[in-house]
Amino acid sequence: MPAGTTFPFHAQPSNRLQDPSTTSFAIATDKRVVLIDRERNMRLKDKVAIVTGGAHGMGAAEARLFAKEGAAVVIADVLQIEGEAVATDICANHGRAMFVKTDVTSETAWDHLIATTITTYGKLDILVNNAGISGSSVGDELALAGWEKLMAVNATSVFLGTARAALEMAKTGRSSVVNI
Ligand SMILES: NC(=O)c1ccc[n+]([C@@H]2O[C@H](COP(=O)([O-])OP(=O)(O)OC[C@H]3O[C@@H](n4cnc5c(N)ncnc54)[C@H](O)[C@@H]3O)[C@@H](O)[C@H]2O)c1
Repeated sequence: MPAGTTFPFHAQPSNRLQDPSTTSFAIATDKRVVLIDRERNMRLKDKVAIVTGGAHGMGAAEARLFAKEGAAVVIADVLQIEGEAVATDICANHGRAMFVKTDVTSETAWDHLIATTITTYGKLDILVNNAGISGSSVGDELALAGWEKLMAVNATSVFLGTARAALEMAKTGRSSVVNI
């Protein structure tokens, strides 16, 4: 029976719902059973995404959502324990993810991140520049050092990452950069 097939409830071969973690499963409505192809309905199926700052907060939520929609997610963050925990959790829930410890202000860290992504997943389709800090995390935000740190994490990192990601994205044709 092709995925997406609908048929009258009384004519269904079985009204038992299958495990929703499997590729295909049935949903019983009041009058019909709809066979869902879980993978076909994933909006990011077969995409590869990097999410910076994906170990915590909104970045972790973005990483989980992308994985749920079918993307392989590379979580890039300075927080190793938290980042690995998010990746492990995604994998435990039938997703694909890995953590790469990355300081987004570092050129060599970006080179390593992109290279590891390509080695592991073969391509890069999406870059989410999510990593960021607020003024409260730089000490004296009116001092030049504070300003420079804010600019390095919140702005320069976007340039460093996008410039490198664009070289890989040009090979795939359709790709996206999301700046949070
Ligand atoms: N929460 C808000 O109200 C809000 C509003 C507007 C914009 N934003 C932006 O959205 C993004 C996420 O916000 P959040 O509230 O989830 O923040 P958060 O502090 O919960 O998470 C930020 C993540 O970025 C990581 N990070 C910080 N510096 C890094 C570096 N040098 N290299 C790699 N990773 C680094 C942190 O470790 C953390 O995991 C940030 O860029 C923030 O500026 C947030």
